Amino acid sequence: MIELTALRKAFPGTEVLKDISFSVHQGERVSLIGPGGSGKSTILKILLGLVPPSGGEVLLFGRPIHRVGGEEREQLMRRLGVAFQQVGLFDFMTVEENLRFALEHKTKKNTGEIAASIDLLLHGVKLPHAKKLHTHELSGGMQRRIGIARALCGNPHIAIFDEPTSGLDPVTSTIILNMILALAHGPEDNCLLVATSNVEIAIRFAERVIIINQGVVVADGPWRELLLSGSPWVQKFLGVRLIGLDLSYAEELQLPAEFIGRHWKRSN
Ligand SMILES: Nc1ncnc2c1ncn2[C@@H]1O[C@H](COP(=O)(O)OP(=O)(O)O)[C@@H](O)[C@H]1O
Ligand SMILES: [Mg+2]
Repeated sequence: MIELTALRKAFPGTEVLKDISFSVHQGERVSLIGPGGSGKSTILKILLGLVPPSGGEVLLFGRPIHRVGGEEREQLMRRLGVAFQQVGLFDFMTVEENLRFALEHKTKKNTGEIAASIDLLLHGVKLPHAKKLHTHELSGGMQRRIGIARALCGNPHIAIFDEPTSGLDPVTSTIILNMILALAHGPEDNCLLVATSNVEIAIRFAERVIIINQGVVVADGPWRELLLSGSPWVQKFLGVRLIGLDLSYAEELQLPAEFIGRHWKRSN
């Protein structure tokens, strides 16, 4: 569904992406991780056709997104759902109107079906009472939840979330993460991509992680394996974010026993 080959992107004075290749297949769930500024959002913007690549190939649903135009591109984009860090709701519309606008654009549902979808989505993100509110009447966490509802409306074949929990407290982050996982059942073959610099969020979201650093993919695989046998940089990048956790939480996350044995002293 997504295939990047030798993707490059340079901005004046900096080469942000030097050689990025990976694919995401139907039904897959993937976390894209890397330090802040490593180019995660740039990759997503290129994938969405918002930013042109400097080199390499970008296929979305098998089509070269940067070389198709007009109606075909519109159709490809309708199969995507996206929530960026800046939620980008229209502030002159209510929550309900924002969702209706997205559903009218993305689906062929009639008025009654759209109203039912809006209720279902708001119920899913636990904000049924927010229907008639405007953006400025919502807290940051509520805006994110509406952004997630909008990204998932119309059951997109690919749903992409950029830093869905950044700046939110741990409780709200957990709510958001669970919402994405619970709501994103769409078509059975849909794929989900979360970009984040938060290792804990990344591993809770997906088994498969793609790690980027300094413009290249430094690891791509199941995080438990990478944690134990990735390159020293990869082990450290994943490990330092996890060794400070409570033992009970580390066990809840099902960190590998070998990793727990290495870093936590049992007190009995
Ligand atoms: N439009 C732009 N012009 C110049 N530099 C940019 C632009 N967009 C992003 N960058 C730079 O590219 C790098 C990667 O940014 P970004 O993709 O946002 O990283 P991440 O999402 O991993 O934090 C940063 O150094 C950023 O300053
Ligand atoms: Mg970013």
